[in-house]
Parts: sequence; C-alpha cells; structure tokens
Amino acid sequence: MAVDFRSDTVTKPNLAMRKWMLNAPVGDDVYGDDPTVNALEVRAAAQHGFDAGLFCSSGTQANLIALMTHCQRGDEYLCGQQAHNYKFEAGGAAVLGSIQPQPIENEKDGTLCFNKLAAAIKPDDSHFARTRLLSLENTINGKVLSLSYMRQARLFADQHRLALHLDGARAHNAAVALGVDIKEVCAPFDSVSICLSKGLGAPVGSLLFGSKTFIQQARRWRKMLGGGMRQAGILAAAGHYALQHNIARLAEDHANAQRLADGLANFPNCHVSPVNTNLVFVRWEDTVYQSAMVRAMAEKGFIINAGKPMRLVTHLNITSDDIDRFLAELDNFFAKK
Ligand SMILES: Cc1ncc(COP(=O)(O)O)c(C=O)c1O
Repeated sequence: MAVDFRSDTVTKPNLAMRKWMLNAPVGDDVYGDDPTVNALEVRAAAQHGFDAGLFCSSGTQANLIALMTHCQRGDEYLCGQQAHNYKFEAGGAAVLGSIQPQPIENEKDGTLCFNKLAAAIKPDDSHFARTRLLSLENTINGKVLSLSYMRQARLFADQHRLALHLDGARAHNAAVALGVDIKEVCAPFDSVSICLSKGLGAPVGSLLFGSKTFIQQARRWRKMLGGGMRQAGILAAAGHYALQHNIARLAEDHANAQRLADGLANFPNCHVSPVNTNLVFVRWEDTVYQSAMVRAMAEKGFIINAGKPMRLVTHLNITSDDIDRFLAELDNFFAKK
C-alpha cells in the first residue's frame, strides 16, 4: 500500500472499525431514531465537556453550522487569515450565512493578537456589520495554541460580548501535545467542532458541541444545509470507535512527525519548521525540482504534494519504518542528481 503523506484525511478505517460499523444498530436520525448517532452525540458531548452534540457530515459543515448559529444575517465573525473556516471553506459563511468574515493576520505561533482583534471590532453604528463572534483554530497549521492563550481569548470575548468558537478539527492533537484532557482545550469555548475523519481515522464525520439550546438551533441549520442524514449510525459507529481507540495513539503520529523533521533537517537544501504535532512543513531551496521529487517518490510508493512550503502529514497509516524508508528514498533521489 502506498504511504500517503498528503493529509491525515487519507486514513482508512481498519477492520475493527469496519466491524463496529457493520454491527451498528441504526434508525432514521432525522426522526431522532438512530441509537448509534444519539449515543455518540451524548457521550462525545460529555467527553468534551459540553451539554449537547450534533453529528455532522464534515468539518466544513460543522463550522458553517456553528457560524450560522452564533451569527445572524449582517453579523460578522473575527478569525485568522489562515483560518480554515475563512480560507478553505469556499466562503460558505458569506455565501450561505450572509455573515461577513473579518480576518486578522495570524501571528507566527498561530495566535491572533488581541489588540488587532479589538481594533477590528466595529462600533454599534448602522454603517457596520455587527461583530458577534471570535473563531479560533487549534491546532492551526499543526501549531498548538496554549491553554493560557485560549483562556485569555475567553476573557477578551467576555469583555467585548462576543461568542467564542473553536475549529477543533485537530483539537485532540492539541490536547495530546499539551498533555491535558480534551475538556481543558474545549473549556473556554461556547462551541467546538472536532473532526473524526482526520487523525482519529473515521471515514466520515465531525461533531459540533455546545449548550442544549445552541445545538437545538444548530440542528435546524444542519437540516437546511442538507446535513440531515438517515441511517447515519453506520458512520457514527466509526466515530465511537475513533473516540475510544485512536486518541492516545496520536502521540505516535507526533513522534513520527518529529522523526521525519529530524531526518529532513539533514538535507542541506531543506529548511524544516519546528514541529508541534503531526504536520511537518519544509521549504526546499529553489534548486530542488519538486515535481521531479514528487514523481520519483511516487514510483517508490510515497505520495507527497509539492508546495512552498511542502506539507507532510503523519497519521495512523504511517509507521516509523515508513518514515525511515521515505528518508532513505529521498537520499537516493538526491544521490542520483
Ligand atoms: C482545521 C480544519 N478545519 C476544518 C476542516 C474541514 O474538514 P472537512 O474536510 O471534513 O470538511 C479541515 C479539513 O482539512 C481542517 O483542516
């Protein structure tokens, strides 16, 4: 099987996960009849420190539902220029929610500067959109936001009467890297979305958490967005498996990412950014032809994307042996040059 470094979204469900899916009791979830979905929403909400949860088809959908639940038409949310829910979700908040994004440049560590955020909040004046929400992301480009930063964000949000959302697609990577329970990462936020289909290894699915009232409203938006699924317990079963079996092992992905970064740092034409979790970013000098590298590595069974920087992601289908073989093949590639 090819070793795929493009993303942790490429993970494939293993046999045990597939067995849980096969054996899942199901019902029509739009009627509220799917026991596996219901149990996932209840258990996962408690695990993350919230009163209620909503099973969504994707991280993009969970984020959009959160934005539409916090903000009304003509409202605005503050976020990072690099935020997934600003840059990589097809402008959904603006297109489908009539919500204006107000992006702020991310600092090098992924945080947003509170002074810059405060300056971007609009006065209560009919010229402006109403600033309602601050949306953060953890991890962001593999970087972990600290607990103290997130607590400051809570104070900032309270001071400015904003709601606070976390795009926690990889919040479990953050918790594992920080060595804390996921509840601590989620605690400062009014709502959190997490992805089951990235490092946690499920084929499909995200969860949105919040208060009971928030999730009740969110459920209506999910239906409107076409996310009311029927016998979705087959998918939710994979989520149960992921949350029970695939969290602690994220530490292996982080160790493998560090192993990869250390190996890459030995190549003289390669600049490696510090690694926090499972994402490795490298800049090759311009003399390196990345397209030739991508082709040569593909022939050896390694899938990578070219990029400036190039992003390499470790996950549960990549072992430390795969990393060593990858580094050896890269060495061969340069030796032939
Ligand atoms: C930080 C972050 N948020 C949200 C998403 C969206 O998730 P999905 O691909 O399930 O829509 C992604 C996907 O890569 C992501 O990296």
